[in-house]
Amino acid sequence: MDFPPLVGFLNGRFAPLADLQISVLDRGFLFGDGVYEAIPVYNRHPLRLTEHLCRLAVSLAAINMPNPYGEAEWLSFIHALIQEQPFSDQSVYVQITRGPAFPRNHAFPATTEPTVFMFADELLPPSKEAVANGVAAVSATDIRWLQCNIKAISLLANVLLKQQAVDAGVAETILFRGGYLQEGASSNILIVKEGVLLAPPPSNLMLTGITYDLVIELAKQHNMPLEVRAILQQEVLDADEIWLTSSSKEVLAVVSLDGKPVANGLPGPLYQMMYDYFQVFKNEAMRLGKDK
Ligand code: PDD
Repeated sequence: MDFPPLVGFLNGRFAPLADLQISVLDRGFLFGDGVYEAIPVYNRHPLRLTEHLCRLAVSLAAINMPNPYGEAEWLSFIHALIQEQPFSDQSVYVQITRGPAFPRNHAFPATTEPTVFMFADELLPPSKEAVANGVAAVSATDIRWLQCNIKAISLLANVLLKQQAVDAGVAETILFRGGYLQEGASSNILIVKEGVLLAPPPSNLMLTGITYDLVIELAKQHNMPLEVRAILQQEVLDADEIWLTSSSKEVLAVVSLDGKPVANGLPGPLYQMMYDYFQVFKNEAMRLGKDK
């Protein structure tokens, strides 16, 4: 594989990605023992950076790892990485693993030297076509573990579930467990029924998205009727609108599920409102040049 000619960050050092190397004994590589974040950056301004760093701290605490950096260090490293990139809209990937250890042993090593890796990719917002016409999804049984609230790098179940969408030629796999909506393979899912936005409540069975939180905040700000409550699978099948949210996809309407149209098969009126609220919020954050 050829490396893209981009500057990344490894354990305090900035260098071209091709020059950054980790140990083959890294526990991230051997066990998937680590956590990560994906932070959207618009016009070189990270969106909701404080919230992303806060979620990272929560994920680290959940896997009993000390945070390798304080907030000031994180901010300075992330801003420096952003400045190094040739594109102004970016997705900054941050990964921390429990580092290299020998012999291989599932249990934590006595001392840990974490591996902190970051790089940025170009952030391409959803196409005009996807925003105007919506996207399709398939459904699947959630086969993941019981701590999906941790943004862990061990993503094999998510990988297999996402591939089901790709194989079906659609954008996302919507996950159900025990008859209830959880989230997407790499996004959160909200629905609209009879003019009310319904959002599944944060739990150990889903990752609470930074975009999910922002959409709920915008709904409240604009007095959009909202209920945060458990959502039955049947309610999703009968929904007037289905939305997906993530740091890379912003807010998208799902207009077909398992080959059947959602309502009339077009993005609904609440989606169109939320899409606009989101763009206004994003543009304002960029204009002010600060994290809102
Ligand atoms: N994934 N749920 C899962 C399982 C996810 O992987 C993601 C995002 C989300 C949405 O979270 P946020 O709004 O904070 O991006 C929900 C990112 C984009 C990724 O894995 O690259």
